[in-house]
Amino acid sequence: MSLKVVILAAGQGTRMRSTLPKVLHPLANKPMLQWVLEEADALQPKEIMVVVGHCGEQVKNTLPSANVTWVEQTAQLGTGHALQQTLPHLQDCEQVLVLLGDTPMITEETLRELCESTPVNQLGIITEFVGEPAGLGRIIRDAENNLIGIVEEKDATLEQKTIEEINTGIMLLPVKYLQNWLQALSSSNAQNEFYLTDVIAMAVTDKVSINSIQPLFTEEVLGINNRQQLAYLERFYQSLIAQTLMEEGVTLMDPDRFNLRGDLDVAQDVVIDINVIIEGDVKIARGCHIGANSILKNVSLGENVTVLPNSILEDSIVAANCTIGPFARLRPGTELAEGVKVGNFVETKKVKVGKGSKLSHLSYIGDANIGANVNIGAGTITCNYDGINKYVTTIEDDVFIGSDSQLIAPVTIEKGAYIGAGSSISKNAPAGKLTLARARQKTIDSWQPPKK
Ligand code: UD1
Ligand code: CA
Repeated sequence: MSLKVVILAAGQGTRMRSTLPKVLHPLANKPMLQWVLEEADALQPKEIMVVVGHCGEQVKNTLPSANVTWVEQTAQLGTGHALQQTLPHLQDCEQVLVLLGDTPMITEETLRELCESTPVNQLGIITEFVGEPAGLGRIIRDAENNLIGIVEEKDATLEQKTIEEINTGIMLLPVKYLQNWLQALSSSNAQNEFYLTDVIAMAVTDKVSINSIQPLFTEEVLGINNRQQLAYLERFYQSLIAQTLMEEGVTLMDPDRFNLRGDLDVAQDVVIDINVIIEGDVKIARGCHIGANSILKNVSLGENVTVLPNSILEDSIVAANCTIGPFARLRPGTELAEGVKVGNFVETKKVKVGKGSKLSHLSYIGDANIGANVNIGAGTITCNYDGINKYVTTIEDDVFIGSDSQLIAPVTIEKGAYIGAGSSISKNAPAGKLTLARARQKTIDSWQPPKK
């Protein structure tokens, strides 16, 4: 069998009421079209083509790394016309699987079943039975229950509108017949469009047998036409993920308020409180507790890490037994060794922190290397930027930085040094000594309060 895939994605998606093309609207932070592409790719077809038209350049630029052939449909004259644009690319294959760019939840499993159950010169189609078929193409069957045609909602009679079996738009077509079928399409219908669905009746005429299957679950084949449907599928996907995570031994305080927008690798006995957002590639080891309203983006957490509420962690690595937050912000390049504490209103960026060190309150620590058992007092700031360049602050093991200190980089605080509170340190502080850099306190004895 030689298979190619065509994804139809040229339509504007008027009902989204958006300047963003419909197929680029994200579901779990990933454009709908990309969801479809990934499932198509899993089938390992000979080639994947995406038909683009409305805002085609924007679609292509958003998915530049996609291994696809982009095919232009300059005017959107219907799904049949869209497929016609790909004909020149279909000469060297036997079957073409047609997918829709606005039906993002389709699974590889269902597509495989369609491919495996449809012999090469037959036609395969995914249909579904739905309670509210309004707006969708209806499946027409004869008295023997043979599938003989599809009628679009706008062309359907009142009786046909009561049919609950609908066309999902996903078809596996025999290339051998396709050229003739597509050329024979006409646009004399209610929408003046060339309907791909009309090939079904042509297949019947040509005695090509039709194999229809249903998806594993209905949401797989729900097309998105408006933002309500997009929100519905987003919630559906999130609840599917939430169920899987709970089965794997994760406690979700409220599965309806869990959001995964990427890939999560999570161990048992992890507790995730409400309104946590997990983005990109995230790894959470056993025993971690993620507090409410936290955001984890591209981070790895070792065992028994506690993230207290309202913390934001991005592109960071956190070793076992660390405590982060509440209200902490780990920016990209933060690497915490075991047992580090980063407390409230602390911002870190491009920082390595050694074992057991504490940054407990109200600090900005950027471009720094911090050793083990260091205590950074409240309000400490690494002054890492002179307006043009960034400089590194080095803080060796066992250092104590008094509260409200500024460390003006490049600067090194040597092992075991103490920095007195309120210091502005611009030169290296020697090991094991107390260094102070602040104006001496004085009291003016002759001072008088101002008179009114
Ligand atoms: C289509 C089917 C309908 C099915 C429904 C499932 C036809 C005629 N109708 O209707 O039977 O129940 O999908 O969701 O096929 N597109 C193009 N070029 C065009 C027109 C559309 O690329 O000229 C693309 C769109 O971007 C979209 C897909 O084809 O991804 C479906 O088009 P849409 O207009 O949404 O078709 P429906 O009216 O939903
Ligand atoms: Ca649609």
